[in-house]
Amino acid sequence: MTIDIKTAEDIEKMRIVGHLAAKQLEMIESHVRPGISTEELNQICHDYTVNIQDAIPAPLNYRGFPKSICTSVNHVVCHGIPNSKKILKDGDIINIDVTLKKNGFHGDTSKTFSVGKVTKLADRLINVCKECLYIGIESVNPGGNVGDIGAAIQKYAEKNRFSVVREYCGHGIGRVFHDEPQILHYGTKGTGPELLPGMVFTIEPMINAGKAAVKLLPDNWTVVTKDHKLTAQWEHTILVTETGYEILTWRKDDTIDRVT
Ligand code: MF3
Ligand code: CO
Ligand code: CO
Repeated sequence: MTIDIKTAEDIEKMRIVGHLAAKQLEMIESHVRPGISTEELNQICHDYTVNIQDAIPAPLNYRGFPKSICTSVNHVVCHGIPNSKKILKDGDIINIDVTLKKNGFHGDTSKTFSVGKVTKLADRLINVCKECLYIGIESVNPGGNVGDIGAAIQKYAEKNRFSVVREYCGHGIGRVFHDEPQILHYGTKGTGPELLPGMVFTIEPMINAGKAAVKLLPDNWTVVTKDHKLTAQWEHTILVTETGYEILTWRKDDTIDRVT
């Protein structure tokens, strides 16, 4: 197994595309309201990517995926397909996952939004999942191991009586959308490949309110919780630096430092 170490030039391009992906999530926030369809959200993001950002929406036609973003509502874990019949309503939660490609490099990020007023459980799930992402990011250190990330996330999720999805994970990213290493969101500290400066990967925990088990729908994309309970996800693209990490997809609403 070989994990790509980015050059200074590669890193500069990844900063640019990471920032564009972050800006896209900032842009879509005001549109996430009761009454809008997930297809309309897809169209707004697609047009913004292509016409304003002069970038490519990487999900479109990726292994046959038919849309430009993923929209995963309530019990949908990930890879939800935008659809004009899926109208957001008050109390829903929705993960919007964007991946942009520009100058040959990818930036991948997502967050879970509340639609109107959500239940206390939904709010707690969203916040614990975001904290899981941050705790994972803070465990990134050169000389540490990939397993440190999942161990920290799992511990925090389970302490909060939530469960960690096992079947999908973070991934190396760069010229390739999904590259090595796999970043599991559970596991054991001190295991897995060593983290080295210049590695870039995503951390993207999917945290369930009920049991961890998931099911793939017949469309072969949409992943749902088996017990149909709520699920949330947050994702950032992270560079390992000489002293810690840099969040390449950092947004204004993030409550963690971009660099250490
Ligand atoms: N953005 C997703 C990830 O975090 C992958 C989406 S692949 C797609 O890895 F084809 F469903 F878009
Ligand atoms: Co993503
Ligand atoms: Co990803």
